[in-house]
Amino acid sequence: MTGPVIRYSAPGRVNLIGEHTDYNLGLALPIALPVRTSVTLRPDACDALEVHSDRVPGSVRIALNTVPGDVTGWAAYVAGVVWALRRAGKRVPGGVMSISGGVDMGSGLASSAALECAVLGAMLAATGELMDPLDRARIAQRAENEYVGTPTGLLDQTAVLCAESRRALLVDFRDLTTRPVPFDPEAYGLALLLINSRAVHRHADGEYATRRAACERAAAALGVSSLREVQGQGISVLSGVPDPVDARRARHVLTENVRVHDMVVALQACDYRHVGGLLSASHDSMRDDFEITTAHLDLIVDTAVHAGALGARMTGGGFGGCVIALVDGARSGVVSEAVRETVRRAGHPAPSIVATQAGPGAGEHIS
Ligand code: GLA
Repeated sequence: MTGPVIRYSAPGRVNLIGEHTDYNLGLALPIALPVRTSVTLRPDACDALEVHSDRVPGSVRIALNTVPGDVTGWAAYVAGVVWALRRAGKRVPGGVMSISGGVDMGSGLASSAALECAVLGAMLAATGELMDPLDRARIAQRAENEYVGTPTGLLDQTAVLCAESRRALLVDFRDLTTRPVPFDPEAYGLALLLINSRAVHRHADGEYATRRAACERAAAALGVSSLREVQGQGISVLSGVPDPVDARRARHVLTENVRVHDMVVALQACDYRHVGGLLSASHDSMRDDFEITTAHLDLIVDTAVHAGALGARMTGGGFGGCVIALVDGARSGVVSEAVRETVRRAGHPAPSIVATQAGPGAGEHIS
């Protein structure tokens, strides 16, 4: 197979709220970021892909009949997409692929999903195979779960593929439906600060899987297949979970789903003060009930709020990565300076802080 050069890109994401709810069939509200990972594919008739990244010297050869275990490291995400597409009965092109990684790895901004979805989009464009966004999300998730071996949910891929500019994306993972929700803080004189702690987060170290297992045990103790099934009963239902740690993990999930719902209502009413309060409440729940924050991230959140942010929270899988803070545009300099100074005095690495906004999802002509 040969054909024209394909260019495809996919964004990173920030989850505004709804953390660790996806694999519990709950709700989440991500946005896509302006920063994107881009793929250039020159298809040919070979039975392998030669993959280059602007972040890593050299190249990796991926046979089109690759199976899990063949390829490790960053290129495993590319190989995983090749494998998952073929498992789904789709044609996959050989050729030369160049990746330009705009989304920082390990920053909790879904760099893996951005890479998977950009690669997937380029391959489908090269073969002319049709696939709707939610099926693409499932293929990319399968690449990550079964080829790379990380037991993540569908949040990142759905956000990367379906998000829209100036909108957040309400995702209901029970039936995998999505709904855009207005999200344009700048129009109200506010800014969404993205504070990268520069503490690298890792899922593979087992904490993510441990949290997931605790939620599954809590659901099993309640006699249901997912925590979503008891959502309507309120947190008192958790008295039926004998293990107190599992009960706290489940409490985070149930209360977080309520916060997602409340944030959608607040955004529709343009009540950004309430939005800020929900961000901070979500962080408290991740710190106290789900225990996925770190002292470093808690310090950033507390400092931002004390310096005048309407609210702040860690975003992503946990144990590092990024904090988001909603601030009055006129105070964003003061809040940023306070965070920089406090983490410097505490001996942490200097964070990067930018005002960000909701950008478009993955696509062929966006660079
Ligand atoms: C990671 C995973 C997602 C989701 C979040 C936590 O980003 O990839 O599936 O579980 O953590 O909300």
